[in-house]
Amino acid sequence: MDTATAADSARPDNGAGEPAIVATGLTRRFGRTVAVDSVDLTIPRAKIYGFLGPNGCGKSTTFRMLCGLLTPTEGEVRVLGHSIPRDAETVRPLIGYMTQQFSLYRDLSVRENLDFLGKVRGLSRRRRRERIEASLETYDLGRLARRRPENLSGGERQRLALAAAVLHEPPVLLLDEPTSAVDPRTRRSFWDSLFALIEHDVTILVSTHYMEEAERCHQLAILDRGRLVAEGEPKTLIGDLGHTVLEVEGEQLARLRQRIAELGIARSVAQLGNRLRVLLEPGDPDAAGLVGAAIAGSGASIAETRPGLEDVFVASTQGDRDL
Ligand SMILES: Nc1ncnc2c1ncn2[C@@H]1O[C@H](COP(=O)(O)OP(=O)(O)OP(=O)(O)O)[C@@H](O)[C@H]1O
Ligand SMILES: [Mg+2]
Repeated sequence: MDTATAADSARPDNGAGEPAIVATGLTRRFGRTVAVDSVDLTIPRAKIYGFLGPNGCGKSTTFRMLCGLLTPTEGEVRVLGHSIPRDAETVRPLIGYMTQQFSLYRDLSVRENLDFLGKVRGLSRRRRRERIEASLETYDLGRLARRRPENLSGGERQRLALAAAVLHEPPVLLLDEPTSAVDPRTRRSFWDSLFALIEHDVTILVSTHYMEEAERCHQLAILDRGRLVAEGEPKTLIGDLGHTVLEVEGEQLARLRQRIAELGIARSVAQLGNRLRVLLEPGDPDAAGLVGAAIAGSGASIAETRPGLEDVFVASTQGDRDL
């Protein structure tokens, strides 16, 4: 993909050799709320880097600072070798940003929306035409080109939003919960599009609430109440989890759940059908035995099971405490 832009030609190397994004002590306060709290990030190039965290943990605020739309209260950000906020104007064209809310014009057709955006992004008429045709093709929007966004399905609208974000071929893409309104099949093909972009050296940051989506990222940051609480490859985060996970299968699970909770040794006990998934606090070698004793006589079975990313999420965030 040709990622040349006016800004590139001003600084042709775009920090070659540096990570795509480096944030140091990134902080944003809104009055008394600390939305983002001393976050350090190193985001490699041409990878998909995920942000996972409960509602209100600061994902969108972080994205807005990384693309120069919001000034940090403290801290520094470098995007492709440029400092933010100092070089925010230079950085903006290097970034494609798909906001959490659909943000295209409802009165314009698909094609008109892309054309308008191309103008805003300063693409020449010829380049605009080329890019629009290519995007309609890549994102399967050709037959929908004359429709308005309000007459598109959720999945089609999301393809349009992605097409709009990458129209000017930015080397960095920020996607804020891009698949929150689409079915699993559509989500899967959306992710195929993301991996295709990676092949063209695009760096992608994506926030999500879906574990299966988080698991697809090369690297993952987990935020909780504005702080970075875990970071790494999903597989490593799961492998390093110091908590044991038990599954209790049986009847009358509400009563068993209560008993297990009363032991005070579980971080969470969640019911899934006829099973309870018990995430034990680390460091107590007798914990599994205590759970076994608590359910004795109930007829329920108990077994240790492999942790998953959701367990990592629950273990590292406070917001989802269910006990
Ligand atoms: N412009 C603003 N003014 C005041 N408070 C704000 C503003 N923007 C965000 N906040 C607060 O900052 C915190 C972080 O919000 P943010 O939108 O970044 O969370 P999020 O992780 O994106 O949540 P979600 O998963 O719900 O999208 C919240 O407490 C929110 O209320
Ligand atoms: Mg958000």
